[in-house]
Amino acid sequence: MPRRSNPESARPAHRQLHGRAHGKKLRAYHAGLVETLLPRLALPGGHEPLDPAALFDFPIRALVVEIGFGGGEHLADEANARADTGFIGCEPFVNGVAKLLARVEEEELRNVRVHDRNALDILPRLPRGCVDRIDLLYPDPWPKARHRKRRFVSMQALAEMAGVLRPGGELRFATDIDDYAAWTLSRAQASPFFEWRAESAADWMVPWAGWKPTRFEERARREGRSSAYLTFVRV
Ligand SMILES: C[S@@+](CC[C@H](N)C(=O)[O-])C[C@H]1O[C@@H](n2cnc3c(N)ncnc32)[C@H](O)[C@@H]1O
Repeated sequence: MPRRSNPESARPAHRQLHGRAHGKKLRAYHAGLVETLLPRLALPGGHEPLDPAALFDFPIRALVVEIGFGGGEHLADEANARADTGFIGCEPFVNGVAKLLARVEEEELRNVRVHDRNALDILPRLPRGCVDRIDLLYPDPWPKARHRKRRFVSMQALAEMAGVLRPGGELRFATDIDDYAAWTLSRAQASPFFEWRAESAADWMVPWAGWKPTRFEERARREGRSSAYLTFVRV
């Protein structure tokens, strides 16, 4: 498949997308969904502001954005559990997008919309304070010191996420990489927009109510790594 135009290198550093957009050739069923279902679920392209209410064909009670949904297992589970909530999933890896599309089709999910590119394209197009929760689960760890600047979490990305979250809204962050937990905690604590409301020293070890491990969490567990779960509240 041809690489996308719009060279990432022309963007400011924190907006650049790293990682792959394509994996193994898609099975015919998945390729068909990308061709037919994705255009119906994809957010309108361009730079125009987005109206969340107009994205869904029913009145949504809340809006959740998941950044880097991978194969969409968590997003589809959440969308199933909360039919009155609208979900916007952002994921540039087409094989993962195709998996989510299969769940949407098979489970007839009406409350999911997809942005199959960089989440940072969408945040500035959403109205301020329209999002109730952002899930950032097991973002790419970029463990090598020279690659850490590629991490999704930066002061600028935190400010952009804060811009769309309503006061009291949550940014949920999970990782199995100790250094990434510390990285995110230090930046969120330096940010004027977020508060980490941990109730006990062990707070970060406890996942959210109703939590099911994501695919990357399952892999981490198999490999003997535990996770940190951080909840930051938009002040
Ligand atoms: C390590 S995977 C985790 C997937 C999933 N959240 C899970 O826990 O199983 C991180 C995902 O984030 C996606 N990603 C990386 N940068 C992104 C960006 N700027 N916007 C949206 N997704 C991004 C990658 O394509 C990748 O699928």
